[in-house]
Amino acid sequence: MTARALVTGPTAGIGNSFARLLAAQGTDLVLVARDEQRLEQLAQRLRAEHGVDAEVLRADLTDDSDLARVANRITDNARPVDLLVNNAGASIAGWFGTTDIADEDRQLDLLVRAPMHLMDAALKAMSGRGRGAIINVASVAAFTPRGAYSAHKSWLVNLSQWAHLQYAEAGIAVQALCPGFTRTEFHQRMDADISDIPRWMWLTSDKVAKASLKDLRKGKPLSIPSLRYKVLATLARHLPIRLVANVAKRGR
Ligand SMILES: NC(=O)c1ccc[n+]([C@@H]2O[C@H](COP(=O)([O-])OP(=O)(O)OC[C@H]3O[C@@H](n4cnc5c(N)ncnc54)[C@H](OP(=O)(O)O)[C@@H]3O)[C@@H](O)[C@H]2O)c1
Repeated sequence: MTARALVTGPTAGIGNSFARLLAAQGTDLVLVARDEQRLEQLAQRLRAEHGVDAEVLRADLTDDSDLARVANRITDNARPVDLLVNNAGASIAGWFGTTDIADEDRQLDLLVRAPMHLMDAALKAMSGRGRGAIINVASVAAFTPRGAYSAHKSWLVNLSQWAHLQYAEAGIAVQALCPGFTRTEFHQRMDADISDIPRWMWLTSDKVAKASLKDLRKGKPLSIPSLRYKVLATLARHLPIRLVANVAKRGR
């Protein structure tokens, strides 16, 4: 059983589901995000409902010194983190080439640089202990050519799959979680028009987090919640790229 998990982005959506599910299993938590008030409210709720220890670590993961503080918390062997959930994320609206390059930099920092630094810290700390697990929240978008967001998620899937093989002997399980459309604050925060996304394509954040934790227990390196997205992801990986790109133009 996981004794302590560090979850980035637990103030909303998929990260919130991970934090609540893990606390319900008796796992202590380190909660990392920018909104301190929401972090404190969540920590209080988890302590009260599940009797777990919940630490609050306010950090903007696109800020170098904040990111270093979170990495240092992961390598603090006096209070070991057994599971890292690299979940925090956001997307800018607009296709790459039409957006502000400074916004692209921030998106790259949040979706690639932050999980890279935290994964590096976790692999080093966990290798020393001979056990641990890392869940990297990517997306089914990783399997489709759809601009910078997809490219960042593809990078995360690729690194996770390699790390799963490379660190298995060190006792570390690494999973890339690839959800499809999930009802969270994600689309609202990027001001995306989601009116043309059919109802059947939506998942709940609880379903996504539950499927990921179940797949982690089974040692699966790739978790794609729901049968419909397993089928879509398989098609995306085998159909001609032009066809996949056309279908994938809709939404994020
Ligand atoms: N929703 C979907 O359809 C979907 C599909 C596939 C993959 N995903 C991925 O799932 C992950 C979680 O997204 P979600 O849908 O749950 O979104 P969400 O509801 O908007 O939650 C995003 C979380 O990330 C945190 N966050 C955002 N920017 C941050 C920053 N700079 N520093 C620290 N924390 C930050 C937010 O907290 P604060 O605002 O308090 O900082 C919040 O807790 C992301 O990696 C996303 O790419 C989402």
